[in-house]
Amino acid sequence: MPEHVRIDFGPLAAPKQGTLVALVGEGLRMGEATKAILAPAQEQIATAARAAKFRGKAGATIEILAPQGLAAERLILCGLGGEADRAERNWTKTGGGVMAKLPRSGATTVLFDPAGPEPAEPAAAAAFCLGLRLRAYRFDLYKSKAKKDEEDAAGPTRVTIALAEAGAARKAARAAEAVADGVDLARTLVNEPPNVLNPVEFARRAQGLTKLGVEIETLDRKALDKLGMRALLGVAQGSANEARVVIMRWNGGRKGKPPVAFVGKGVTFDTGGISIKPGAGMEDMKGDMAGAACVVGLMHALAARKAKVNAIGAIGLVENMPDGMAQRPGDIVTSMSGQTIEIINTDAEGRLVLADVLWHVQTKFKPTFMIDLATLTGAILVALAQEHAGLFSNDDELADRLLAAGKATGETCWRMPLGPGYDKMIDSKFADMKNSAGRHGGSSTAAQFLKRFVGETAWAHLDIAGTGMGSPQSDVNQSWGSGWGVRLLDRLVADHYEG
Ligand code: BES
Ligand code: MN
Ligand code: ZN
Repeated sequence: MPEHVRIDFGPLAAPKQGTLVALVGEGLRMGEATKAILAPAQEQIATAARAAKFRGKAGATIEILAPQGLAAERLILCGLGGEADRAERNWTKTGGGVMAKLPRSGATTVLFDPAGPEPAEPAAAAAFCLGLRLRAYRFDLYKSKAKKDEEDAAGPTRVTIALAEAGAARKAARAAEAVADGVDLARTLVNEPPNVLNPVEFARRAQGLTKLGVEIETLDRKALDKLGMRALLGVAQGSANEARVVIMRWNGGRKGKPPVAFVGKGVTFDTGGISIKPGAGMEDMKGDMAGAACVVGLMHALAARKAKVNAIGAIGLVENMPDGMAQRPGDIVTSMSGQTIEIINTDAEGRLVLADVLWHVQTKFKPTFMIDLATLTGAILVALAQEHAGLFSNDDELADRLLAAGKATGETCWRMPLGPGYDKMIDSKFADMKNSAGRHGGSSTAAQFLKRFVGETAWAHLDIAGTGMGSPQSDVNQSWGSGWGVRLLDRLVADHYEG
């Protein structure tokens, strides 16, 4: 994907051209350097602000063309608000808001100099930079006209973030850009159409992480058969596109230290299989691999910022289609764990894929914890809408850490129940368990199913059917595929599992 914004850092000085952005607190308060730089245009700014009723409220902006006495062609004032706004400042969100106001190409200088007592720390500038990047993402690979767009042809927007500690900020922003690249990658995988991104192509894209030092192993149908992944293969057998499982390893931690592990549902298209879905909206099921996309994006972020952690990323890639070879309701499959599963509904396929990948990861790598991400149930949308991901866990410490990382990044989770009652609901007349217990408590019975494949490992399951795709547009996301979870899990690792 072409990048849409290129960011660098520089000293607090007036630019010789382009767009100039100033951060303005309530009552038009500015940092000392900003005040000095804007001094020649002071009167014009006051007049324009009065006319537009701009007082520096958080999120408000005005644009002034040809600011007097400045070489910049355009001045944008971005409101930072007052005391209360400062207390809950989210520089990433602010960065997203600023990016939305910038022209699509050309040079911009942001005077990163909020009014005292708010410090312009390198970490804040890095978070701001992340917001610029997240907002700038666009997916127009398949729009033939976009290629000819004049503004796009002029290249990406170039932003210089101007602050006193430019060197330190540049360094801090390297990690932020690694995370932004990971989110971009995840978004693109989710946005790609299902005729392009089938399991084989998905595995090929994951293979791209080798250039960052990630070790990659791809298991094809024969290898999966040999391992005994019959639950996963049962889902894939109705498709002309073969299944793949990709295992990614990033060894940034101490040698021999047990890894943390991330597992993703990668159903590149979910028709429902023989229990076929209704036609309306079925095109959205190209996003049924958002969990796997997040895992690939996360591994990219960890490797690109050289995280001091040993991490495993494992993704189960299948297409759920209804042909003459397809799995039927009533079929019984033997999973890799040896447990048997009666297929009640071929549309409850994600848990079948995850069952084998979770079992494999757990037995082979003995991880510190396993976190899986899956667009698993429509029921999680009924419960939580697109506000939070559903969080299910057998480990309170891990769950609490995820809840905290969610609050810190804005990718929030809501803890949902597991329990013996739900477990009983998936017992089967004919096999060890069944893959669907009907509508009631659908997200909990799905999670409970997964729990039968994690052994004693600390584990959390994130149901991202609501947050992974088609999410409401925000300051930091305008894309259909949101890349949800990359920032959350990168933060979890950074806060608790490095060094
Ligand atoms: N991929 C779907 C879940 C989904 C629904 C994701 C809406 C994103 C948006 C999943 O495979 C599925 O079909 N689940 C069924 C389970 C049921 C058959 C027990 C569902 O939620 O209806
Ligand atoms: Mn399904
Ligand atoms: Zn599905």
